[in-house]
Amino acid sequence: MRHLIRWTATAAFAALLGIGCTETEIQFVDREPFNPPPDAAAGFLGYYTPGTKQTTCGNCHVAKQTEWRATRHASAWDDLQASGNAQPFCNTCHTVTEYGNAVDSAAGFNRVADTAYQDVQCESCHGPGLNHVTLPEGTQPLASIAIDPLLGAGTNGCGECHSSADYPFVEEWAGSRHGFGGATYDSALGGSRYYNRDPCKNCHEGREALRINFGGLDPRVSGQAGGPLGTYLEAGIPDAAQPTAACAVCHDPHDATHEAQLRAPLGEPTEEQVCVHCHRREGEPEEGFATRRGPHAAQGLIVIAEEAGWHPPNWPYVGPVRGSHATANPRLCASCHILAYEGTDAQGNRVVSSGHTFKAIPCISQTTGLPSGATDCELTERRFEGCTASGCHGNVEAARTAFQVVRQRMDVLTDALWTDTDGDSVMEATDGGILPQVLAQAIAANNLNEINMYDTVETPAEGAIWNAQLASTRRRDNWRNFKVAGQKSCTPTATCTTQGGSNTAHYSSAEGVHNPFLLEALLLTSIEYLKTYYGVSAPPVDLSVHVTVPPGVRKLR
Ligand code: HEC
Ligand code: HEC
Ligand code: HEC
Ligand code: HEC
Ligand code: HEC
Ligand code: HEC
Ligand code: HEC
Ligand code: HEC
Repeated sequence: MRHLIRWTATAAFAALLGIGCTETEIQFVDREPFNPPPDAAAGFLGYYTPGTKQTTCGNCHVAKQTEWRATRHASAWDDLQASGNAQPFCNTCHTVTEYGNAVDSAAGFNRVADTAYQDVQCESCHGPGLNHVTLPEGTQPLASIAIDPLLGAGTNGCGECHSSADYPFVEEWAGSRHGFGGATYDSALGGSRYYNRDPCKNCHEGREALRINFGGLDPRVSGQAGGPLGTYLEAGIPDAAQPTAACAVCHDPHDATHEAQLRAPLGEPTEEQVCVHCHRREGEPEEGFATRRGPHAAQGLIVIAEEAGWHPPNWPYVGPVRGSHATANPRLCASCHILAYEGTDAQGNRVVSSGHTFKAIPCISQTTGLPSGATDCELTERRFEGCTASGCHGNVEAARTAFQVVRQRMDVLTDALWTDTDGDSVMEATDGGILPQVLAQAIAANNLNEINMYDTVETPAEGAIWNAQLASTRRRDNWRNFKVAGQKSCTPTATCTTQGGSNTAHYSSAEGVHNPFLLEALLLTSIEYLKTYYGVSAPPVDLSVHVTVPPGVRKLR
């Protein structure tokens, strides 16, 4: 790797100077590969050739130069001028300055307005390069992936430019689950450090997410070495644990191969999709494993209909059952979850949301017109514009109604499996629905393992519970954390006396929205199967297919 850089470097100098060079004949050229820095005090080099946007760094880091040249950072100055609104204060974020790196007083373009400093170049993020280019082996100007919304300029990477009322990326991200994970789970703050455990950290801690998850490895597997993305300031420092997903976890600072410089595709309904990279821990019950922790981050798997759900023997479909939210939706998760918009507040002032709260139907503050951060509010106070933006739903009212219909359907079908009649989050034979009848049978036959998510044998009743957990809505919290009357809390092979261990799960269905047809199919087939398998009766519920069958879905019979 290092030799490669060195060789490339030599070849690049040679090319720059028009000297022929073959692999066997590399000439050392005694000429400085950089111009004197216009702002000598800070040591920012900027462009080697402003006219062609050839950075000084790019003289040696040839591939990085090519990649960066295709990003919007490389046209930040031109776009600013073309806006017709350029003013001196705009320059700070559209040129090489103290913004985005460790320098903390006016520098670069802010001190010497030289053309060499136009655009967001390598040194905007990496800091001044003079010492490095003088002796590359001596010091390397490492960039930072840290974003601390509480810190000021000089310490804050991408956040120094991508913040303020006009560009509220950091502000909105910081309030999202991607932004605060690391700190919240710090034991010093009363959290549990699961984000720092293997393999949990592969999705829950920014640096490991980069190394493993976006390094091309499967984050669900423990103990993996390697991964290429580890050259930045915070890498390898034990106490520098990063939030779940800092900007540079989802965005590649250099590469514009994917839209918005994402590290992985956005619109592709596969496990390679940028969000599905993490939102896919456990979507189907794994053979030989206890199911008491239920589905975990199955949202992505449900949307793309891979490894999602327990298929009863009467499962009638061939291939993945993907709805149009996956197949006819080019921005996939972002259509609903990244709702950037501009508007006006109650006083008529312009307001901007970057969409980086990642909330699909955020609660909107009536005074500011911006996402309020509230986790719950009336449906009429939520923004449904994501559903209409791509032309999928005719208008906001239609989308809101569709949402209510799907949510209602999920509630009816999961209730048919188990209604927690007395609201105590314990599944009892006296509760409503099919599963309590199965439990009554099991108790009568002294076969409590028929519903025991602590053992590793999966029964149809337990498969149906898994499906209900995938489909359940926030109004049916009983599926999230419940006990089963008489259930043991250890494997039946061990001597165990403790009764009543709890079973948990994560929300996955998005109130049914993520893939209504798949979820309805999982519930309908589960209900039908339990009826025949256990000989129990279903409560009076409409078992016909309500949700429109997605195009291309084929039935076996
Ligand atoms: C004269 C050629 C040259 C120039 C110009 C140059 N670099 Fe380097 N750079 C190198 C070499 C060679 C290494 C490897 C050093 C080593 O292995 O000790 C390196 C290493 C690095 C590293 C560490 C990467 C790693 O994988 O270890 C970073 C980051 C870096 N350079 C950034 C920059 C930036 C930013 C600039 C512009 C300010 C720049 N470089 C300009 C030659 C150069
Ligand atoms: C010095 C200020 C500055 C820093 C530091 C900075 N950016 Fe930017 N960024 C900009 C500007 C300005 C633009 C818009 C350029 C344009 O469109 O003309 C931009 C655009 C972008 C875009 C839009 C790309 C697209 O194709 O839609 C992304 C994504 C982005 N930046 C991510 C990052 C990330 C990630 C970091 C940190 C690793 C970062 N930026 C650091 C100023 C900065
Ligand atoms: C605090 C840093 C900062 C300042 C100051 C700033 N910008 Fe930007 N600018 C950005 C960032 C970050 C982006 C990329 C945002 C995005 O892609 O959503 C951007 C993008 C742009 C774009 C291209 C994308 C677009 O929105 O059309 C233009 C044009 C622009 N800015 C003009 C201006 C003007 C004019 C000013 C001064 C009135 C200004 N900027 C001041 C950070 C800044
Ligand atoms: C928007 C901010 C930003 C810009 C602009 C930027 N970098 Fe980086 N760079 C980073 C960050 C953050 C990392 C660490 C994360 C990673 O590797 O993706 C990094 C990593 C690197 C590395 C080490 C890891 C690797 O991929 O080899 C090198 C070398 C590097 N950058 C060189 C450059 C050069 C040369 C340029 C300009 C042509 C440049 N960077 C422009 C932010 C930036
Ligand atoms: C969880 C992944 C994720 C994280 C973390 C993230 N982004 Fe994004 N970002 C996206 C996606 C996906 C898009 C594309 C949205 C679209 O095209 O609809 C995007 C779009 C953008 C854009 C382009 C917006 C435009 O209108 O051109 C900018 C700029 C940006 N992000 C900056 C940031 C910054 C700065 C941070 C850190 C504070 C950040 N992002 C964190 C996923 C992420
Ligand atoms: C690096 C892994 C990773 C990536 C990539 C990622 N996420 Fe996440 N996401 C997480 C984790 C981990 C959490 C939970 C954090 C916590 O609560 O501690 C989360 C939380 C969320 C939440 C909040 C869930 C809740 O219960 O409130 C939403 C919504 C979300 N992500 C959507 C997305 C979208 C959309 C994308 C793609 C643009 C994405 N995520 C990309 C790991 C990731
Ligand atoms: C493949 C990626 C991945 C792995 C590995 C992973 N998680 Fe998660 N986890 C997520 C995502 C994404 C979310 C957010 C979406 C959700 O809650 O379903 C999440 C959510 C959580 C939450 C809920 C956060 C909250 O406060 O609501 C907990 C707790 C959790 N994970 C614990 C763990 C533990 C413990 C491990 C390791 C044994 C682990 N995770 C491994 C991706 C993962
Ligand atoms: C058609 C719109 C839509 C699409 C596409 C979509 N989501 Fe969602 N998502 C929602 C809605 C609606 C919610 C529920 C929000 C609420 O209740 O506040 C949600 C909730 C979530 C949650 C929080 C858990 C929950 O159920 O409350 C996560 C995490 C999530 N989505 C991730 C993703 C990921 C990852 C993708 C892409 C693979 C995706 N979503 C695609 C609409 C969508």
